[in-house]
Amino acid sequence: MPRYLGTTVMVPSKLDRHTTPATGDQHVLARGLDGEIRAFLNVCPHRNNQLVPVDRAVNGVSRVSRKGKLTPNGSLVCPFHRYTYDAHGDIVFAPAFEERKCTPRLSLEGVSLRACGDLLFERTGEYPLLLADVMEHEEFARLGIRPFDLQGMKLAAVDASIEKFSALTAGEVFGDTDHVDDIHRDSFDQLVDMSQLSIDVKSLDWSMQFVGWREKTTVICDEYFAYRAAVLAKGNIPRYGAVWMLYGPCTTFEWYPTDVPDEHVFVVSVFEPLPDGGCRNLIEWYAPRALKERNPELLPALRDAYAVTAAEDRELCLSSEEGRRTLVQNGLGERTLGPTHPLQEGCVDHYYAMLAQQLSALASGT
Ligand code: FES
Ligand SMILES: [Fe+2]
Repeated sequence: MPRYLGTTVMVPSKLDRHTTPATGDQHVLARGLDGEIRAFLNVCPHRNNQLVPVDRAVNGVSRVSRKGKLTPNGSLVCPFHRYTYDAHGDIVFAPAFEERKCTPRLSLEGVSLRACGDLLFERTGEYPLLLADVMEHEEFARLGIRPFDLQGMKLAAVDASIEKFSALTAGEVFGDTDHVDDIHRDSFDQLVDMSQLSIDVKSLDWSMQFVGWREKTTVICDEYFAYRAAVLAKGNIPRYGAVWMLYGPCTTFEWYPTDVPDEHVFVVSVFEPLPDGGCRNLIEWYAPRALKERNPELLPALRDAYAVTAAEDRELCLSSEEGRRTLVQNGLGERTLGPTHPLQEGCVDHYYAMLAQQLSALASGT
C-alpha cells in the first residue's frame, strides 16, 4: 500500500528541499522552479553517498540539515564530488569531467508521488490510496477539521527514538484502548474519557478511534496536568481528547485537541522496522503557524505528555513480546489469543485482518 513520505508543508516554497524523517531520510522532496514537488531516493548515483547527508559533517565543520535549498536554478548538488542534478533528477554537471567536455549519463532515482490533501505518499503499483473517506469523514466535518489539510500549519518539530520492540507490536498496541485505564492511569487516562470511545473500521487500510475529553481528573502526572492546563487556557473544552488513526501496519495520524481550529496539532508517527527486529519511531508535529504566539505552552506540553504515554507503551510492547517469546520457547507458539472486546479491542481485530490482507498481497505479488 502507498507509503507515507512527508507533506507539502515540508517544501512550502519554490527551491525548497527537505528529506523525509518518516523514512529515516531515505527520500528527498524538492520543489522546483515550476512549483512542482518531486521526490528522489536520497542516494547520489555517482558513488552512492547520501545526496543530502542529514546531520553529517561534510566539510568537517557544518552539519547538513533536513531542510535546505536547491541552487537558484533549481538543482540539487551532491556535496561529495559536486555532481549536480536538475529538478527532474538528470545530471547537468560533473566537475571531474569538465575538462573532457562531457558529462556522464546519470540520474537520481525518482519516486512517484501520490497526494492526499497535503500528505505525500509513494505511488505503489496500482494500489489505491484509500483515504478519501477520511477527507470526507462526517465526524471531522462536525469538528470543523479538514483532515490532511495542513494550510496555515508548519512542521514544528520532529522527535525520533530507536525501540527494541517490533513495529508490528507497536501497531497492535496502538489499536488496543483496553489498557488505557491501567497502563496510563495517571497520564493519558486523565486526558480522555474512555466511556466516550467510538471506532470506525469500515476500511481495511485504516482504523480510527475517537476518544472523548475527560472532564474531571483524579490523580494526574505533572506532564498531563500541564497539557490539560494549556488546552483549557483559552477557555475551549474540546469534544475529544484525541482522534487516532492507524494507516497500514505502522503509520499513525493523530489530532490533539480536536476541535479548536487555531490550536489543534496534527501528529504523524511512523514505526519503521529495523533489521535487528526493533524499530525506529519518527514523530512529526504539525502546528498552526500562530500557535506559538496564541498558546506557547501547548505544543511543548503536548510533546512532554506524549513522551510519558510513549514510555508507558514501550513497557507494554516489550512485555507483550517477552510473553510471546516465553510461549514459543516453551513449545506453545501456536497457542491462540484470548477474546477481544468488540469496542475497546475492535481495532486490534481490525489490525490482524489488515495484516492478513497485506501478507496475502505480498505473497501474491500484488
Ligand atoms: S557521491 Fe555524489 S558526487 Fe560523488
Ligand atoms: Fe497506550
